[in-house]
Amino acid sequence: MDKVFTGAFTQQEPIPDEAIEAAVAVMRSGRLHRYNLAAGEAGEAALLEREFAAMIGARYCLATTSGGTAMQIALHACGVDRGDKVLTNGFTLSPVPGAIHAVGGEPILVESTENLTIDLDDLAAKARASGAHTLLVSHMRGHLADMEALATICDNLGVSMIEDCAHTMGAAWKGRPSGSFGLAACFSTQTYKHVNSGEGGFLTTDDDQVMARAVIRSGSYMLYERHLAAPGANTFADARLDMPNCSSRIDNLRAAILRPQLKTLSEQVERWNARYRVIEGVLAPVPGLALRQIPNAETHVGSSIQFRAPTLGPDQLRAAIADCAARGVELKWFGPDEPHGYTSRHVSWRYAPVQALPRTDRILATLLDMRIPLTFSPEDCALIAEIIADVFSNHLDNARDVQAGPGDWPQ
Ligand SMILES: Cc1ncc(COP(=O)(O)O)c(C=O)c1O
Repeated sequence: MDKVFTGAFTQQEPIPDEAIEAAVAVMRSGRLHRYNLAAGEAGEAALLEREFAAMIGARYCLATTSGGTAMQIALHACGVDRGDKVLTNGFTLSPVPGAIHAVGGEPILVESTENLTIDLDDLAAKARASGAHTLLVSHMRGHLADMEALATICDNLGVSMIEDCAHTMGAAWKGRPSGSFGLAACFSTQTYKHVNSGEGGFLTTDDDQVMARAVIRSGSYMLYERHLAAPGANTFADARLDMPNCSSRIDNLRAAILRPQLKTLSEQVERWNARYRVIEGVLAPVPGLALRQIPNAETHVGSSIQFRAPTLGPDQLRAAIADCAARGVELKWFGPDEPHGYTSRHVSWRYAPVQALPRTDRILATLLDMRIPLTFSPEDCALIAEIIADVFSNHLDNARDVQAGPGDWPQ
């Protein structure tokens, strides 16, 4: 009989006891709003910001209500205004173009490479053609472009880089943390990310004015001197009057939940990667499946895995996904026209001008995606990978019977 997996792909680990106790203490105090502090108290939110900045090696950090609001604040704080063009990945999730739209910007979508990172040649060409001065680069599904080459292109073209690190908290390029390459970086602490406060986010930067503008925009009610990872009060002279308040503050409760999780992030990264390697080890040798090559320079966080089945058509992919689901394995697919849970393609972002991205479309047409929650053991991951390999081998064998040749996709 075919093996079946019975675990839940959406089940995360419990919040650690230390975090629960810290959250209970905040609730007992009643001081949940970040600026509601007892005499001499720094507050969980301010302490969290200081600790996260130290972790990333940034001078400044602002905690926010979500990764999406962190991106909106970062864009505005970095100078994006109504009508400005902003470069971003054609392969990303909807909060990224959504953040650009929310500040009145116009997304200019850049092609993806087959390794699922932003295409640097297309980026340079579109920066020149559009005259855009800002790039919101999305490290989608945890994949880093050559960050040094990307930073050089941006410098040469006078483009400010903001990093969307929603999927790369804990990742690095040549040992330098993801989020430390741009003018600003944004992170998410939403439940499916690498630390979990339900909702939440961070904005980090080394730039005095960017952080002053960000703090005011997040809704600091002129209490910016209570921040521990922000520049001095004199930096706020203009920002305090120039920036609209768009209330997007984190609260002390969520901050209390997050602080203990930061301490164990590197261990969690090891656990994700151990699971990723098990799945990769089974899928990589399957003829007809193409997995992403992780560059040596990249410290990856394997909290999800992507693979392509380039020779399968949409009906065959649908059938393979259904067969995996029948055996308890939940795969997402970036191919369909209609957006589904946690996947969407640029064609469904109707608020952005229609743009032709033929290479990205070709890649997404056969791109499959799977979460790897830490509630799965390495043995669970081996079983899941075995089921995927089995199902896809059958469909690929059938496809080979009706098609001649392996197609033009790299393995
Ligand atoms: C690539 C990417 N960027 C940014 C975000 C924004 O995160 P949040 O849900 O915290 O707004 C997400 C959320 O899933 C995402 O997938």
